[in-house]
Amino acid sequence: MMDQYLSIIKNNDINPIDLKTEYLVNPLAVDVNEPRFQWTLVATDPLKHNLSQKAYQILVSNDEQSLAKNVGNLWDTGKVVSDQTNHIHYKGKTLNAGQRAYWKVKVWDQEDKESTFSTVAYWGNALINWTAQWIGAPVGTQKNALKNIDEIDAQLVKSKPALMPVLYLRKHFTCEPTIKTAILYATAQGAYEVLLNGKPVADDRMSPGWTDYHNTIQYQAYDVTELLGKDNALGVILGTGWFSSYVGYRHQFQLYGSNQTALLELHIEYHNNEKIVIKSDNTWKVNTGPIIYSDILMGELYYQSRDIGQWSSPAYDDKSWLPVIIKPIDPKVKLVTERSQPVRVTQEISPKTRREIKPGVWVFDFEQNMVGLVKLHVPANSKSTRIQLRHAEALEKDGNVYVKNLRSALAIDTYVLDGNHTKAQDFEPHFTYHGFRYIEITGFPGEPQLTNIVGRVVHSDTPITGQLETSSPLVNRLHDNILWGQKSNFFSVPTDSPQRDERLGFLGDGEIFVHTASYNADVSAFFSKWMRDVREAQSSAGGFSNVAPRACNVVDGAPAWGDAGVIVPYTMYRQYGDLKMIEDNWEAMNKWMNYIGSQNPNYIWTKRLNNNYGDWLQVNANTPKEVLSTAYYGYDALLMSRLAAASNRTEDAKKYTELHQNIANAFNKAFVNSTDGHIKGETQTVYLLALAFEMLPEKLRPLAANNLAENIKAHNWHLTTGFIGVGYLCPVLTQFGHNDVAYRLLLQNTYPSWGYSIANNATTIWERWDGWTKEKGFQDPSMNSFNHYSLGSVGRWLFQSMAGIDTGSQRNEVGFKHILIRPNPGQGLTYVNASYKSINGRIDSSWHTSDKKFTLKINIPVNTRATVDLSFAGKLYEVGSGIYDYNNCDLD
Ligand code: BGC
Repeated sequence: MMDQYLSIIKNNDINPIDLKTEYLVNPLAVDVNEPRFQWTLVATDPLKHNLSQKAYQILVSNDEQSLAKNVGNLWDTGKVVSDQTNHIHYKGKTLNAGQRAYWKVKVWDQEDKESTFSTVAYWGNALINWTAQWIGAPVGTQKNALKNIDEIDAQLVKSKPALMPVLYLRKHFTCEPTIKTAILYATAQGAYEVLLNGKPVADDRMSPGWTDYHNTIQYQAYDVTELLGKDNALGVILGTGWFSSYVGYRHQFQLYGSNQTALLELHIEYHNNEKIVIKSDNTWKVNTGPIIYSDILMGELYYQSRDIGQWSSPAYDDKSWLPVIIKPIDPKVKLVTERSQPVRVTQEISPKTRREIKPGVWVFDFEQNMVGLVKLHVPANSKSTRIQLRHAEALEKDGNVYVKNLRSALAIDTYVLDGNHTKAQDFEPHFTYHGFRYIEITGFPGEPQLTNIVGRVVHSDTPITGQLETSSPLVNRLHDNILWGQKSNFFSVPTDSPQRDERLGFLGDGEIFVHTASYNADVSAFFSKWMRDVREAQSSAGGFSNVAPRACNVVDGAPAWGDAGVIVPYTMYRQYGDLKMIEDNWEAMNKWMNYIGSQNPNYIWTKRLNNNYGDWLQVNANTPKEVLSTAYYGYDALLMSRLAAASNRTEDAKKYTELHQNIANAFNKAFVNSTDGHIKGETQTVYLLALAFEMLPEKLRPLAANNLAENIKAHNWHLTTGFIGVGYLCPVLTQFGHNDVAYRLLLQNTYPSWGYSIANNATTIWERWDGWTKEKGFQDPSMNSFNHYSLGSVGRWLFQSMAGIDTGSQRNEVGFKHILIRPNPGQGLTYVNASYKSINGRIDSSWHTSDKKFTLKINIPVNTRATVDLSFAGKLYEVGSGIYDYNNCDLD
């Protein structure tokens, strides 16, 4: 039997793995009509070359047993001759609400040899018709719970009306022991966690995630089959979340409402196919408990004396609890399935040092700026005490935590212990998160040890796809810092900062970083979700916003901010070959183009500039705003022409190509010297945008690129760009023949540079080049985050140009099906090892140099082809899958 199995494995060359549905691993609720399937292929023998998929067969069944017998009772594609492995739309029978479908795939290799079937994947159809009701607490319940708290806390909650006690909701029920499946659908106007019989149903945090709750609320689906017994209790911990916490700046709170409510349906199916539904309705009970508040920006306050014991166990006596109030579902508010990976704890970090800076005041250093929370381990038999944790990114000169840059975010977690516990206990907050490297702890019983504290890293759990290591410690640290910036700010939406009172989904930051982000992690689902937020935030006039969800900063989008509405879908199309992105966003993108075009008939974008931030946080430079805006308008038109062509919109492709040309003409006329290529403003950014966005006639490009290089030289090989120019610096320099200058900037370590922050112990990307300088110390604390990713948008160049991993060189070669390997070695680096797990499989590129010789080793995934472009050595190759070595190419 075993031998027979081995011979199957040996006989065919490729096998399908990593099955996903709508970009996710086994999502339990999907509300797209024809969910898309994807897999990647691995070679049975990694040393073989030119392997590809000639055909596939997908089977979809409504139960695993049929599928095990190779019956696809919902869909059987038969053998489809195709090399497609992703974006394959399900075209089988329509699923019922909540129905689960199991699927698997087998493939035929280039010689028509058949693989075995893959492992089984599944997805669940959306719930569709909700019949539950929103449940919450009667008016006054939370206010009452604020009585009799310590004076110091009373003062605080009086001054901050959004600080509200967390609610506990429960329902006792019984069911038969013959359960086949049990799926819980849940959501909240607030943030929630569900327990079933005392156990958390999942490990997600801050669910349902952030959307514009006025219009759209995501719901989660959890498989709780294993947690159910005969006698059961469902328990919900319900906090304020983005719905009613302090959010953004200017002390804004309760943006979507003041009463938190939850909505749940537990669908249980017995083996005899009978179904029952336990749902949120007026039979539930509600209470407050030990969490006096748990606010996104302010932190959590916990009174152990108010512990309510095993409140979510079936046997718990809830007689003293109040009946919930109910509210019907508002049909105007869309309930949608969770589109992306949830926020989760992804890693734990122990503090490295501790110091008692004043009697009883300890400062712990994690030696890594991060996002998340701290878990506190309190020893047994501790006296009653008030332990307070303050979070900070930096230290003052005297060793105190530097918290001024948090602005109004308190970022304080407080545990008031009752002193009645003979066992050690762990505490961590629920519905808050902090950006921090240091914590200050006071009130700890005895001396806090390093082992009393663990930092838990929390963010949207997008799978990491990029690995990069080089001979330069500076570049390695830079890559780490960029990745930490991404982890810290991809928190349900791509935020600007994780620590201060802002944390908003800024479009400018998002568009400049999205390409880098897509190398670091699989952000296909994450940006599919965010683009829904972006569309929803579009004004009726067609203006994309500055932030999405549109909250706090409510004006329409500025140049380079609003344009994210076009740039993000384009980048998703480019990196993942996602045509649906184009369809989903086409109308909104068109509206945006008209929004600008209708008011700027002369093609120079001077109207509808909204907040107009220019090249935000540039240094020693002043990029004229109309040059920047017009270049972006041109870029939008260019991308629209490509997206139109990709989606067979021939007329539109023509229209937008012409528009790009018209804008470019106007740009040249207004801002460019047609003899020497000098551009108005004479900043690095004007050259970068003009070159990157194809605004200049061909003959002027080398001249403009020289002007750019001269400008950098005149700044003694330093950059002057802000958020916007920075993303194009190294890519444009390399593309236009100044790769040496790109390396100079990369490895620069005096101010302003990436290296300067690293030389000054940065473990994340700073918001500003001068966040801290030797001469001036900290920048103005009113805007000085140490964890903003925008200036880290050079990350894309590290993979794309330094390591040389890019999608094909032709416009339509998107999604890494045809790969371009074009490494650009440079002075100061002797080796690079990189890999990128693309949607079409993992690509490896490693190079090293010695004695003017260059050696490259690459691994091209099955079912793809690559152009290997070593033009600096006069070499060009076309290859299929497999491992290739190019040894000792001449560097000069
Ligand atoms: C944010 C940014 C944002 C900028 C301009 C700042 O306060 O932190 O990252 O892009 O405002 O709107």
